[in-house]
Amino acid sequence: MSATERMVTILLAGTALIVFLFVSAPTELPDGKSEQASPEATVPVAKVLAILAAENDVARSLYTSQIVGAGKAVGLQFSEHWQDASIEAGPLPALFLRSTAAEVFAVTPDLGLFLGSEYPIAASNLFSDSQMQQFRKVAENGEAVMFPDAGANTFTAMYPDYASVQACVTCHNEHPDSPKNDSKLQDIMGATTWTYPRDRVSAAEALQLIRSLRNGFIQTYTRYVEKARGFSRAPQIGDKWPSGGDYCLPAPEEFAAEFERRAALATSTALLDLFEAKGEE
Ligand code: HEC
Repeated sequence: MSATERMVTILLAGTALIVFLFVSAPTELPDGKSEQASPEATVPVAKVLAILAAENDVARSLYTSQIVGAGKAVGLQFSEHWQDASIEAGPLPALFLRSTAAEVFAVTPDLGLFLGSEYPIAASNLFSDSQMQQFRKVAENGEAVMFPDAGANTFTAMYPDYASVQACVTCHNEHPDSPKNDSKLQDIMGATTWTYPRDRVSAAEALQLIRSLRNGFIQTYTRYVEKARGFSRAPQIGDKWPSGGDYCLPAPEEFAAEFERRAALATSTALLDLFEAKGEE
């Protein structure tokens, strides 16, 4: 198959998945959180969480570099107290994730997401005992871990969160609530932690989880844009990005489109692999 043919195949299959997504996704979760997997639950949740983690990386890096990084350069501010009425700022990346997790919980309450740490600024980000044991492995070799967490009755996946830029280290080391002040660049500062109460899901559930996470990113970004409209010096909101040098923010639909441009190919390829492979297990 030529590269073009392969691309066309991926696009066609992607379209089929999208049709499937809209036609067959349930509008609400089945009643009651039965721990009994349905007969359609053939997809290993570990693979779905890996897709979610990859989408989360795309959203986090888009938000961190193109909104926070580029935004600061043109005079926008970002704060842990961004939700306070008197603060004219947007969410720090960790709070972007926290708000996304709350939106996800509202739509798909079975899916848990948080940025955990051994030495957290916010006490609620401390790992549980069983998570801590697993995190030690993540911190040691830098690889993600996935495990059934008997204590919490969930399936859990953890992905390392690196101090990839100096700002991570400086802000955390100097923060008055931080119990650790000697972090260094490239240290593993914590882990993005996902939990789900069953180890297999149906195809429709898998797609619903992906949709819920995407919805979480966009709702969170929309809340920030709505707040920014009321700043005493309100940024221009439209199709421009602050990386162009203007005091502006892309509108939510622009942010969503850029996210999809960056995430869609990897996700549709992963979904194809997933649905092709599941019959063989
Ligand atoms: C300007 C300050 C600031 C910067 C820059 C920053 N953080 Fe944080 N980070 C925070 C605050 C504040 C929290 C607690 C947020 C909350 O309430 O959940 C946090 C939370 C976290 C957590 C969850 C554990 C905890 O400490 O509560 C991790 C892990 C983390 N940040 C990693 C990073 C990484 C990696 C970077 C760089 C890519 C980074 N942070 C950049 C301020 C910062």
